[in-house]
Amino acid sequence: MSKKNSRKILLLPGDGIGPEVVSEVKKILNWFNSKKSLDFSFEEELIGGASIDVNKIPITDEVFYKSLESDAVILGACGGPKWDNLEFSKKPERALLKLRKELKLFANLRPAICFKQLVDSSTLKPEIVSGLDIMIVRELTGGIYFGEPRGIKPIENNQRQGINTHSYTTNEIHRIAKVAFDLAKKRKNKVTSCEKSNVMEAGVLWREEVQVIKDKEYKSVELNHMLADNCAMQLLRNPKQFDVILADNLFGDMLSDEAAMLTGSLGLLPSASLGAKDKNGKIRSLYEPVHGSAPDIANKNLANPIATILSLSMALRYSLDLDKEADQLDAAVQQVLDDGLRTKDILSKGKKEVTTTEMGDAIISKLK
Ligand code: IPM
Ligand code: MG
Repeated sequence: MSKKNSRKILLLPGDGIGPEVVSEVKKILNWFNSKKSLDFSFEEELIGGASIDVNKIPITDEVFYKSLESDAVILGACGGPKWDNLEFSKKPERALLKLRKELKLFANLRPAICFKQLVDSSTLKPEIVSGLDIMIVRELTGGIYFGEPRGIKPIENNQRQGINTHSYTTNEIHRIAKVAFDLAKKRKNKVTSCEKSNVMEAGVLWREEVQVIKDKEYKSVELNHMLADNCAMQLLRNPKQFDVILADNLFGDMLSDEAAMLTGSLGLLPSASLGAKDKNGKIRSLYEPVHGSAPDIANKNLANPIATILSLSMALRYSLDLDKEADQLDAAVQQVLDDGLRTKDILSKGKKEVTTTEMGDAIISKLK
């Protein structure tokens, strides 16, 4: 069999549990290379605190350019208490924000799916979460994360003032709204768009412009507008009312953590951050688990690698045109859960506790 074209993947393990979970992805890529006549070439580089320790900055130009040249970037996590006291612009998280902004990864897809095997791992009642399948579409390169002016400045009477700016333009809203509507068409055809139009002008604009796109290009998709605080409440009250949730950068950040917990554990949720097509038709992309660096359990072989492994599956699907392999990997994860294997974060009575590496090995054994 001839090998499919070589794909360049950049692995950025980062901090905390990042290296442990990305290491399981590496094992899977190696397995695909050896068994499936695929040809992944992958390199590993430092990012976040790990890069600060060696290079004094959270991401070097060299690593940044490598990320531009690869077909997909898979990131573990950035940050941890060790670097908490650094000046803001030097913190590990800046590397992640730089990648998102400069690769123009404006669309962040965060699927929150409650696996049937894990219904009991959620803190919510089984009937509330079983069968849950939500897609959160978070705008990732605008809003208060990047708005100017920003900063902390001294003011009168020995006081200081912290400033951030929340701002969105018509085009920024239109392009993310289209992503949400396109996804909804392949799902249950329903978008709930969240903002705070009751208190923020940028929220009024968001609501109006999402409606413009729906009326113009997506007449058949159901659109509901919801205040973001109400959405946070509805996610707990009746999460199955949602199909696609569309939100800005900050509300999307918060709502996706909340939605993750509905599924049982933050350790299960992958994400894809996608940019626009360039002139060669290539979409820049970054894949990462929704969870953070979890320093409290780092280096203990306890972390759940499933979120990162499912992020690889999203990379296979969205960036590498390898749907069959993505299906195979998703199925392997399901089978391992069917077998009752659980990392500590999703352990329940009668199930078998496994380590990070054992979970990775078990998933590979199902690929065979
Ligand atoms: C996320 C994280 C990041 C964010 C942090 C690590 C900068 O919480 O991806 O959800 O706030 O976007
Ligand atoms: Mg977050």
